[in-house]
Amino acid sequence: MATSIETCVEEATTRIMDQCKEKNSWPMWTVNDKISKLVPNPRAVPTSWKWDEMKKLMLESAKYVPEEMAERRALMMVNPGFGEVTGPSPYTTDTIYAGFQMVLPGETAPAHRHIAFAVRFIQESGNGFTSVAGQKIYLQQGDLVLTPSWEWHYHGNDGKEPTVWVDCLDIPLHVYARTNFLEPYPTAKVPDLVTNDSPFHFAWSKTQQALDSQDTPRAVYHYLSNGSPFSKTIGAQAERILKGHSVSVARETVSFIYVVRRGQGKTTIRAPTGEATIEWKEKDVFVVPAWSWVTHEASESDDVYLFALTDRSLVDNLGLGRIDYSKP
Ligand SMILES: [Fe+2]
Repeated sequence: MATSIETCVEEATTRIMDQCKEKNSWPMWTVNDKISKLVPNPRAVPTSWKWDEMKKLMLESAKYVPEEMAERRALMMVNPGFGEVTGPSPYTTDTIYAGFQMVLPGETAPAHRHIAFAVRFIQESGNGFTSVAGQKIYLQQGDLVLTPSWEWHYHGNDGKEPTVWVDCLDIPLHVYARTNFLEPYPTAKVPDLVTNDSPFHFAWSKTQQALDSQDTPRAVYHYLSNGSPFSKTIGAQAERILKGHSVSVARETVSFIYVVRRGQGKTTIRAPTGEATIEWKEKDVFVVPAWSWVTHEASESDDVYLFALTDRSLVDNLGLGRIDYSKP
């Protein structure tokens, strides 16, 4: 019986396919399995970037890419699940982009603004700063700073060592919607004032305090502005895992770009696109695709602090959040 249905469908397709093409149409039954899967189907695969290797590459590129282009002196994190970089930007997960960016001592990364929402997690900083919406914010390792959509911003470094951060933007959404554009500011810097109390700045010390106030093996802290997510698209969270502990996390329709803030260990990721165990240490970055079973293991020697950029805001705002608490 199944064979005769298949034969009928095949015949129907053959009879009308050419006519459909002429009339800008297409028989849905030939592609339905590509539209509706039985489980969420990210393209991203579990991937990692080792800090030692990437810092070396950044220092090398900084020898040649001049200060005038410092706002673009970034090494993008390309998820191999999407193949070669052929479009306007790579995907780090299916919904968010990340890269490593470096500003050398004395440099100014020229001012501009864009529709894409950007966040930066500071990996190394002597006296680096971001200026956003007229607020000049000096940044330390582990700090998070926001540059919301269409706010003027520029970056600089008043220290003696390079400042490096992980950049994260909602570019994949704009690639789809074709909505991102930018405007350069007429001068390299925007008039600003130094502030120690900005709504765009999240100091690591407060994050760690929030994590250390929890006494479970896995502590989680969600970054919020006035009790709400700081962006409609990008979210951020930090986690602490006590030394020697292994914690498993329910799978959900959220993807993660993890940055190791402190400590070492490994994470086993069983994603719809494949399985991997990634060993990591301080400042390494790794990706957890959506709908992955995840187990983090902290080493025996030290408690581990992880930071993660996520698309949780986007997923929640669109009502796409699903969590699977069943055991893998
Ligand atoms: Fe920017």
